[in-house]
Amino acid sequence: MQVLALANQKGGTGKTTTAINLAASLAALGKRVCLVDLDPQAHATLGLACHAEEEDSVARLFLDGAPLTSLHRSVPGGFHLVPSTLGLSEFEQVAERTLGPERILAQALAGLEGRYDWILLDCPPRADGVLCANAVRAATTTLLVVETGAFALQGSLQARRLFEALTSDLGRPLALLYLATRFDRRTSLSRELLVAMQARFGREMLDTVIRRDTALREAAAHGMPVRKLDPASRGAFDHDALARELLERSRATLAPATRTRVAVSPSVSAPPWRAERARAPSTERRG
Ligand SMILES: Nc1ncnc2c1ncn2[C@@H]1O[C@H](COP(=O)(O)OP(=O)(O)O)[C@@H](O)[C@H]1O
Ligand SMILES: [Mg+2]
Repeated sequence: MQVLALANQKGGTGKTTTAINLAASLAALGKRVCLVDLDPQAHATLGLACHAEEEDSVARLFLDGAPLTSLHRSVPGGFHLVPSTLGLSEFEQVAERTLGPERILAQALAGLEGRYDWILLDCPPRADGVLCANAVRAATTTLLVVETGAFALQGSLQARRLFEALTSDLGRPLALLYLATRFDRRTSLSRELLVAMQARFGREMLDTVIRRDTALREAAAHGMPVRKLDPASRGAFDHDALARELLERSRATLAPATRTRVAVSPSVSAPPWRAERARAPSTERRG
């Protein structure tokens, strides 16, 4: 079972769009897929036309220990969704008084072994919070979803250091892949950034690039994956290519064997959600 956390410390980079459409593309290739919405803003849930009550939300796992099998449901696109609700934000406060709050998801996913081929975790934009910590710790691979815009390279390196700090006690290196999204080949900034990312991240950078496509926005507004609304769109094509590339890589091991480890900054070595003053200035943006 592959567990892929889609993360970045910024909002609006395309995490949720990639999560929904990658789930549909993997399902179309015959894989058993479950998407877990870990964002209290519930964009993945809404983007699949799903309206969950608090008692059906992933919040129940984090707040009451409910099993994930009692929370998943089928959605358009041929996969399962564990929906989110605003109530999930309560967990950020409760975590302060909980023992090992960052381990809840990994333990819960162990109970799904054998049921699914792929679990996708759609992370909230707050990467230094306990929900994102749960995701990157539970993941076999973290997919850093990078918008090909200004400061993308610096942001990616910052995110990488943060994720390494979140997993530093696990006794295994962080398996990280980079995906460029919202790419517009007409702008020189996008093109230059893509080349810079490929040079900097090498094999960790996926060959597939998700291009800008208004069909992706329209599909979210219609509450379905783009390959269902508009199978001939660029968005459908790119996410199908992404699914194929990830499957190909997972046949070897998903992330490259040799990786350059970036030194962990001491400022993030304490659990970030408990070290309020220690974190880097937030670049959070809602998208
Ligand atoms: N490749 C793309 N082309 C066009 N619009 C996109 C693309 N990816 C994302 N968007 C749009 O950008 C906004 C933010 O994307 P989203 O996936 O919600 O980002 P995140 O989950 O990182 O906050 C949404 O309105 C979405 O429809
Ligand atoms: Mg999102």
